[in-house]
Amino acid sequence: MTATLENHPQLRTATGPRLGVVHLLRLRKRPIEHNDFLRSSYGDVLKLNVFGTTLYAAYGLDAAEQVLINRDRIFANGPAWSHFIGPFFRRGLMLLDFDEHLHHRRILQHAFTNEALRRYHAVMVPHIRSGLAAWQAVEQPRMHQLFKELTLDIALETFVGVDLTHAEQDRLNQAFIAAVRAGTSLLRAPVPGTPWAKGLAARKVLEEFFFTHLPEKRRTGGDDLFAQLCVAQSEDGDQFSDADIVNHMIFLLMAAHDTSTITMSSMAYHLARHPEWQEKARAESLAAAPSNGQSCDYDGVVGLELLDRVMKESMRLCSPVPSLPRVAVRETSLNGYRIPQGAFVTVSPFYNHHDPAYWPDPTRFDPDRFSPERREDHSHRMAFEPFGGGVHKCIGMHFAGIQVRAIFHELLRSYRWSVPDGYTWPLDLAALPFPRDRLPVRLERL
Ligand code: HEM
Repeated sequence: MTATLENHPQLRTATGPRLGVVHLLRLRKRPIEHNDFLRSSYGDVLKLNVFGTTLYAAYGLDAAEQVLINRDRIFANGPAWSHFIGPFFRRGLMLLDFDEHLHHRRILQHAFTNEALRRYHAVMVPHIRSGLAAWQAVEQPRMHQLFKELTLDIALETFVGVDLTHAEQDRLNQAFIAAVRAGTSLLRAPVPGTPWAKGLAARKVLEEFFFTHLPEKRRTGGDDLFAQLCVAQSEDGDQFSDADIVNHMIFLLMAAHDTSTITMSSMAYHLARHPEWQEKARAESLAAAPSNGQSCDYDGVVGLELLDRVMKESMRLCSPVPSLPRVAVRETSLNGYRIPQGAFVTVSPFYNHHDPAYWPDPTRFDPDRFSPERREDHSHRMAFEPFGGGVHKCIGMHFAGIQVRAIFHELLRSYRWSVPDGYTWPLDLAALPFPRDRLPVRLERL
C-alpha cells in the first residue's frame, strides 16, 4: 500500500541535534558509534541540518528496503546525487530517474553482458600483470595509492581503448581526478582556483576528449566499454546519441574508480591484519592458476570462492558508498516518521552492515559469514547492500567483481604484504572512504 500520510495518521516528526555540522564531523570520525548514539537519542529517523540542507537519515534495513526498492516511485536519485556531483557527472545513469532511467539502463545493460565481461577481462589481464610487476620497484609502497594508479591504467584500456601518448594519458587522468575531487568541495561555486572551478574545467576536457574520439570509435569498434556503448541497443533497437555516450562514459569512469580502489584497499588491509586469510586466499589462487605461470581465465577467476568471501567481507566492513541519498518527490512516511516533499533522505549501507541483529560480532573480519553454511547476507533482503538495491543497483557490480578478483589473483601469487602489529587504518569518511595514510605496507616479492 502507498505510504501516504492518510494511511498513517500517527506519524511522528523527526528531530535531531541543533548543530548538524558538529554531528556530521563526529559521524565521519566514528560513524557506527555516533550513529548508534543519535539513533538511541532521536529515534529511527534523524533530522540533521547541514550547511542549510535538511537531511533525514533513516536507520535500519526496512527503511533501506523502502527507499531503495522504491515501489511507489517516491524517492528520486537525480535531485539528490546532482546536489553533490551533478555539474561534473550530469546525465550519468545514477542521476536519471524513473522511465528515462529505465530506458537508458536497458541500453547500457548490453555493455555488461557475460560475453562483454569476458572480453573486458581478457583486455585487462596483461595490464594487471605488467602493472603489478612494476610494484617491486616501489620504495615505500602505499596500497591505496598503488591500487588507484593501477585501476586508472586499466580503465584506460578496458573503458576507453584509445591509443594515447603519455602526455595525453596524464591529461585525461588529471581531468578525471579533478572532476572526482570537485564533488567533495566545501565551496560549491565556480570561484577560480577552487576544486569546484577545476572540476568544471575538467568536465570540459573529458567531454572534448570523448567527442573527439567518438566518430572513430563508432567506425572501428573494439572490446572496450566505449566501443560497447556505441553499439549497445535495447530490445526495441534504441541506441545512445553521441551526447549520451559521452555522458555515460564520464560517469562510468567515475563510478568504477574510487569504489574499486577502496574495495581493494579494504581487502589488502584486512588480509594484512589477518595473515591466515591471506595465506588461504593465496593457496586458492596458486591451486587455481594454470601450471604455465599464466593467470586464470575468466571462469577460473569467477571460481575463486575464498577470494569472493574476502571481497564481500571487506565491503561489508567498509562500504565503498557509505550512504545513498534520495529526494522524496512526494510527502511520505519512513520508519513511522513524516518525510516532507522535497526532503533529502539517506540510507547507510555502512551503518546497516554493522547491525548486530543481522551480523553477529559485526566488527570482526570473518569472511566465512558468506560461506554456503552461514550466508549471513541472506538474513534480510537488504542485509548486504554495498552495491545498493532496487532499480539503481550497481550495473557494474559483476565488472567490479571480475576486476577486483583478477587483480588479487595476480597480487596474491606475486607478493606477500603486511602491516605492523596493532596498526589500524585512519579511515577518512568525508565522502567515499579512503585511508588518510594511503595504507603503507611491507611488500615482499614471492
Ligand atoms: C566495488 C565497486 C563498486 C561499488 C561498491 C559500487 C557501488 C554502487 C552503488 C552503491 C550504487 C547505487 C547508488 C544508488 O543507489 O544511489 C552504484 C550504482 C552504479 N554503479 Fe557502481 N559500484 C562499484 C563499481 C562499479 C563499476 C565497476 C561500474 C562500471 C563499470 C559501476 C557503475 C555504476 C553505475 C552506472 C551505477 C548507476 C546505476 C543506476 O542508477 O541504474 N559501478 N554502484
